[in-house]
Amino acid sequence: MSVHIAAKKGEIAKTVLQPGDPLRAKYIADNFLNEVKLVSQTRNIFYFTGIYKGKEISVGASGMGIPSIGIYSFELFTEYEVDTIIRIGTCGAYTSDLKLFDLLNVENSASESTYAKHAWGIEGELIKNQGNAFGLINETAKALSLDIQPTNIHTSDIFYRKEEGIPAIATKYNCSAVEMEAFALFANAQYLGKNAATILTVSDIIPTREQISADQREKALKPMIELALETALQF
Ligand code: HPA
Repeated sequence: MSVHIAAKKGEIAKTVLQPGDPLRAKYIADNFLNEVKLVSQTRNIFYFTGIYKGKEISVGASGMGIPSIGIYSFELFTEYEVDTIIRIGTCGAYTSDLKLFDLLNVENSASESTYAKHAWGIEGELIKNQGNAFGLINETAKALSLDIQPTNIHTSDIFYRKEEGIPAIATKYNCSAVEMEAFALFANAQYLGKNAATILTVSDIIPTREQISADQREKALKPMIELALETALQF
């Protein structure tokens, strides 16, 4: 049991898939895993452990934003000896070169956040994915004939803002899209020497205001979930 996760030691697998939304975690557990056990529901942030094609995998939510994923990923890595976290989330595209449902594999996260500096003394605005998960995701996507684009993304603390247009940091680091968590996940993994990757499905095109509708979301996320699960088999 950690401060924010009720699972006992040993009840969480070495590889964790981490969507933002607790109900997404439940959807994955219900539809993709066998022998599922709910191992934590503290704050309704559900964690499940089950079997996928013979391998034990856990799936649980990060919540939204850097502070939330900072807490959950740190406790998973340090209290439950998790080796690999694959975040599976959605993002808003800054460019209409990307299309709804496109899959992105995050190479680097750029952020204005001071999380990495104040938590771990990691300087700079750009943090790379950690370990071999990023490469395995690309290889697995190829084997599954799924298109996935490696890219830099902007991890922002801000969802609603006054100014329209692309924030300066996103332009500076050539970020094709924005989400709110990868920077803290990568910072924790870098500090702790763990594996961390982020796969994103484009759910919004910011310049044109196109969006995946609520009822399209479940179907839209299936390729990303399958890609993450098939990658997890290789750890
Ligand atoms: N901003 C930040 N995070 C997001 C967005 C967005 O527009 N869309 C999906 N996740």
